[in-house]
Amino acid sequence: MRKVKVIRKAVFPVAGMGSRFLPATKASPKEMMAIVDKPLIQYAVEEAVAAGITDMIFITGRSKRSIEDHFDKAYELEAELEKRGKAELLRITREVIPDGINCIYMRQSEPLGLGHAVLCAQAVIKDEPFAVILADDFMVAEASAVTQQMVQVYEKHFNSVLAVHDVPRDQTRQYGIVSSVRVNDELEQVTGIVEKPEPEEAPSTLAVVGRYILTPRIFHHLQNVKPGAGGEIQLTDAISALIEEERVLAYRYHGERYDCGSKLGYLQATVASGLSHPEVKEEFAEYLRNLNLGA
Ligand code: G1P
Repeated sequence: MRKVKVIRKAVFPVAGMGSRFLPATKASPKEMMAIVDKPLIQYAVEEAVAAGITDMIFITGRSKRSIEDHFDKAYELEAELEKRGKAELLRITREVIPDGINCIYMRQSEPLGLGHAVLCAQAVIKDEPFAVILADDFMVAEASAVTQQMVQVYEKHFNSVLAVHDVPRDQTRQYGIVSSVRVNDELEQVTGIVEKPEPEEAPSTLAVVGRYILTPRIFHHLQNVKPGAGGEIQLTDAISALIEEERVLAYRYHGERYDCGSKLGYLQATVASGLSHPEVKEEFAEYLRNLNLGA
């Protein structure tokens, strides 16, 4: 079979409960929470589009209808905006789904973990390398978006690529942590990976954040791994099996990551985005400066 060498498909696991944001997430998914004026999932999809990805595969669960509606045509809203002559708002509404993008929705019927969510996409991905993007890891990059950077690494090496950054040792229990051998300033070859180790057991402080490029061989391992940390099918455990067969690279991405799965990270992302938003940045910066004066 011809080896597919371009990344055309991305998986967005969006079936999580979002329990850390209850009651905001009672009836609407956490991926629909907005940073300034765009939902997290839209930022994630835009990052995939910037990387040349055309097929967006959403692994959804309960209360996820609003994601499907968001990436669908909004006839009534568009007609209303048109009637009122709101050309700019009409453009913004239509641009949510760029031309040539396919949205595919698959349902994860049980919350069995990130690995299980990715496995749900196998029937659509088949035998291609693909990206996994966790929308609550909100990434801000100066030049090219983080997924695009990773696609470029893939196109050079044709190996799976994990986005990593250094975290304080007391935070290792929040992440997949890799042990690795240095390749160059940006790349490490992964020699081991463990899900959410205690600080004293962590092999390093190099943590995986929510961006992956994976070869389709990962599905074989996802089918075979036993429930791991938290009783869930962990993507980390399947990657651990994959490194026995294939080279897996860890990539120190260029950019800033905000953990929007946590309240503090979400607030930080909102402040950072507010400070760069063309409509409000000056006034918002002044507002913050005045707050500091009072501190
Ligand atoms: C998941 C992965 C973990 C990774 C993290 C990045 O954990 O299981 O390996 O480091 O995303 O955000 P979660 O945050 O979903 O518990």
